[in-house]
Amino acid sequence: YIGTVRSDILKIIPDSRSFVEEHLFQVFFLPDEKLNKVKDLLQAEIDKRLHPDADLNDPFTFYPSFVEQVPDGSENGKYLAIDLGGTKCRTLVVDVNNKTTSQNIIEETIPMDYIRDESASNLFDYIADQLHRLLTDCKLLNTPTSLKLGFTFSFPVKQLAVDKAEVINWTKHYKCSDLIGKDVVDKLEDSIRKRGEMNVKCTAVINDTIGTLITGAFIDPHCSIGLISGTGTNGCCFEPVKNIREYRNTNGREEKMVAIDTRWNNFGYGDVIDFLMSEYDREITRDTVGINMGIEKLMCGMFIGENVRRVLHKMYTEGISFTSWKSWPSQWKDVFSLDTSVVSDILSHPLNGMVIVNKYLSKFNIDNLPENDCRLLYRVCELVVIRAGHVTAACVACLVQRVGKEVIGVAVDGSVFKHTSLYRDVLNDKANTLVDHKQKVYFVPCNDGSGLGAALIAAMMDKSD
Ligand code: GLC
Repeated sequence: YIGTVRSDILKIIPDSRSFVEEHLFQVFFLPDEKLNKVKDLLQAEIDKRLHPDADLNDPFTFYPSFVEQVPDGSENGKYLAIDLGGTKCRTLVVDVNNKTTSQNIIEETIPMDYIRDESASNLFDYIADQLHRLLTDCKLLNTPTSLKLGFTFSFPVKQLAVDKAEVINWTKHYKCSDLIGKDVVDKLEDSIRKRGEMNVKCTAVINDTIGTLITGAFIDPHCSIGLISGTGTNGCCFEPVKNIREYRNTNGREEKMVAIDTRWNNFGYGDVIDFLMSEYDREITRDTVGINMGIEKLMCGMFIGENVRRVLHKMYTEGISFTSWKSWPSQWKDVFSLDTSVVSDILSHPLNGMVIVNKYLSKFNIDNLPENDCRLLYRVCELVVIRAGHVTAACVACLVQRVGKEVIGVAVDGSVFKHTSLYRDVLNDKANTLVDHKQKVYFVPCNDGSGLGAALIAAMMDKSD
C-alpha cells in the first residue's frame, strides 16, 4: 500500500526525500511481520486476563459487560441514552419500533473546564442539564412512568452489574479524580434528581465499544465485534461465559455468551510493544505520563495530530523543511496543540493538499509554504494515519481470530474512522490481510452507534425485567 499510494505527493527535493524514505518510512511503516506479532501478543494477553488464575488486582483486568445478547427485533418503545465521550456529550431519545429506530439527539462539545476539574460534580450536572434540554424539547419532562436510560461511559470501569460500574481511572483528557472508585450510575442519577423534573432510571451502563457492537448487530446480524476509532480506541467481542470468571459456576449458563470490553488501549504497557515504538512515541510517553499507557498512542485520535506535530518539529529543527519560518509556530508549541481533525482535513483533499495546507496555516497567520514543504507535511500526515490504520487492523484481526466465524462484521464508530478515508481504506485492506485466508472481515459504520446501542440495551433490559 505504502509504495503505491499517492506517489505523486512524493515529488520532493532529494534531501527531504531521503528523510522521508530513510527515516519516516522506517519509523511509521510496519511490515506484516510486526503486525502479526501485535495480533499474537494481544491474543496471549486476552487469554491471560481471562484465565481463572488471573490477578484480579491487575489494573488492566477485564470485567464482563453483563450484556449477554443482541437485539432480536422485538424491542419496542421510547428509550433514552447518554453518551459521554472524549470531547462530546450526546443525549438521545430513541424510538424503537418494528426493527427500526428513530432518534432525537443533542450533541455538545463538553466545556474543557468540566473535563479538567478535579471534581466530577460539574461534569455530571452539565450532563443532567443536557438531558433536561432534550427532554424539554421532546416534551418528556415529568412523565408518569419512568423513562429507561442507557449510559455510555467510555472509560475504564470495574463493571459489577449491568447497571453498576466503578471508575478505575480516567483516560483521554479527563481529571475528575474524585469519581475514581465510585459508581457512575449513582453519580448520574444524583445529578438527574438534583436537576429535577425528570423521571428517569438508568438501567445500563456500558463502554462505547459495546454500544457500537449492539447497534451494529441491530443493523447487520454478522456483526460480532465492536470497534471505536475516535479520541481513544478500543474493541470488544462476545466470549463464551464459561471463560469468564465472574460467571463461572452459575448453573445453566454455560452456553451463553457475554460481551467483553478488551481494553486493548492499555495493551503494551511496559516494554511489550517496544518493537513498535518510535522515538516520537517514546517522547510522547515521557511527556504525557498518566494520560496513556499502551498501544493506543500509536493509533487513536488523541495522538495522531501529536505525532504529526512532533515529526514536523524535528523536520524544522534539523533544517529539513520549513526553512522559511523564523521560528517554530507558537500555535504548535504545546503538547496536543495540533488537532487530529486538522490531519483528517488535510488528507481529505488528495490532489489538492497544498491549497488545504496553506488555507489551514493561514488561519493561524502562518505564511504560505512552498510546494515542497506542503508535500512533506501531507506525506507525514499520510504516514502517521497509515500506521494508525495498520495497528488497529492488527487488533481487529486478533478479535476476528477469537470470534472464529468465516464472515465477520465489525461495527465501528468514532471520529477518526468517520472523517479519515485513508484510515478506513488501510484498516479494511490490512485487516483482511492479517486474518486467516478463510475469513472475511468488513466494517459496518454505526453513526452515533455508541449512544444508540445504550438505548437498545435499555430496551432489551426492559423486556427481561
Ligand atoms: C479509551 C477508553 C476506553 C474507550 C476508548 C474508546 O481508550 O479508556 O474505555 O472504550 O477510549 O473511546
